[in-house]
Amino acid sequence: MLRRVTATGARAIVDMSYARHFLDFQGSAIPRAMQKLVVTRLSPNFREAVTLRRDCPVPLPGDSDLLIRNRFVGINASDINYSAGRYDPSVKPPFDIGFEGIGDVVALGLSASSSYSVGQTVAYVAHGSFAEYTVVPASMATPVPSLKPEYLTLLVSGTTAYISLKELGELSEGKTVLVTAAAGGTGQFAVQLSKKAKCHVIGTCSSEEKSAFLKSVGCDRPINYKTENLSTVLKQEYPKGIDVVYESVGGAMFDVAVDALATKGRLIIIGFISGYQSPTGLSLVKAGALPAKLLRKSASVRGFFLNHYLSMYQAAMEHLLQLYASGDLVCEVDLGHLAPEGRFIGLDSVFRAVDYMYMGKNTGKIVVELPHSVNSKL
Ligand SMILES: NC(=O)c1ccc[n+]([C@@H]2O[C@H](COP(=O)([O-])OP(=O)(O)OC[C@H]3O[C@@H](n4cnc5c(N)ncnc54)[C@H](OP(=O)(O)O)[C@@H]3O)[C@@H](O)[C@H]2O)c1
Repeated sequence: MLRRVTATGARAIVDMSYARHFLDFQGSAIPRAMQKLVVTRLSPNFREAVTLRRDCPVPLPGDSDLLIRNRFVGINASDINYSAGRYDPSVKPPFDIGFEGIGDVVALGLSASSSYSVGQTVAYVAHGSFAEYTVVPASMATPVPSLKPEYLTLLVSGTTAYISLKELGELSEGKTVLVTAAAGGTGQFAVQLSKKAKCHVIGTCSSEEKSAFLKSVGCDRPINYKTENLSTVLKQEYPKGIDVVYESVGGAMFDVAVDALATKGRLIIIGFISGYQSPTGLSLVKAGALPAKLLRKSASVRGFFLNHYLSMYQAAMEHLLQLYASGDLVCEVDLGHLAPEGRFIGLDSVFRAVDYMYMGKNTGKIVVELPHSVNSKL
């Protein structure tokens, strides 16, 4: 059974067996078929791995689920780890892809209707967001005030920075923090949250435009590693070393960051994007020397994976939403205005958006807009 909020606010009960005939809250029919992206072959090359399928059945929500019509979906560096089957090697293609979205609830199960209603705008983290419609467990959704892509930036990127720095960063006034890929989806939040903790923040990036963005969100020392030698700058300007590193790049960047650590410094491994496109997904680091380097400084390296911190997720999301609502947090969105073929609109532009990220072009979180294809009023 499903329920639907009527114009008077009363809940009408709709039988699941009529699910193919549900009306959405604007009075448009939910179609039988939709487009979605499907991983048809395991590969870190997104274009080789993923196919746009045009005639897929619109899924039905179960008792505790929401059916969401996606309006914006987020691109993540790990989309290519997912398409390469690195998340769960037991899952074989074909499988759905896309980690997060924001859209309207268009149908829902009976249990889900105790907390949500048709027409509500929600943001969510769940597999299969690269689709016109996605079924999402209600527990994975967060109500948001409106259909703004800024809310989407908080779902994975914002919470990763928030929880990792809170749990592993031990930030305090006057500490020096280095953020790599600082102008990107999650880096932008690591910079701002470290500034809120009264730290001195250094951020790496690959262009002058990104440096200017980093300055605008409070970064004390943006470093464009294409024009300045990162290792030299850190040695000259920060001779006492770096207290906390939020490290997303891996490989040579990781090695430079380890060498720059202060006594009792800590490096949080957020990712290693420089390796994701390779067959192993790894980026080589000078691991043999690591124990000696850490011991000499009583320094530490710790990994962070958001999925292991879900008990803290809701509180993190609430705090980030408050910060954004009060104007205390910039949620920079990159919708592809400056991309070679223009804005990322429609599911087929997810391919371009992934390329754009791996060309290092984005400032802020890359978001793809899915215009609604169902407009017919009954
Ligand atoms: N641990 C977790 O739970 C978790 C959650 C979310 C994200 N992450 C990680 O956070 C990192 C950033 O992810 P994101 O989705 O927010 O992406 P993003 O920062 O929005 O975009 C990636 C940025 O990385 C740099 N880059 C791109 N390709 C590169 C390459 N081949 N080698 C070196 N640098 C490259 C570019 O910035 P520059 O201008 O700086 O070069 C690019 O803008 C990734 O490592 C991702 O796996 C981890």
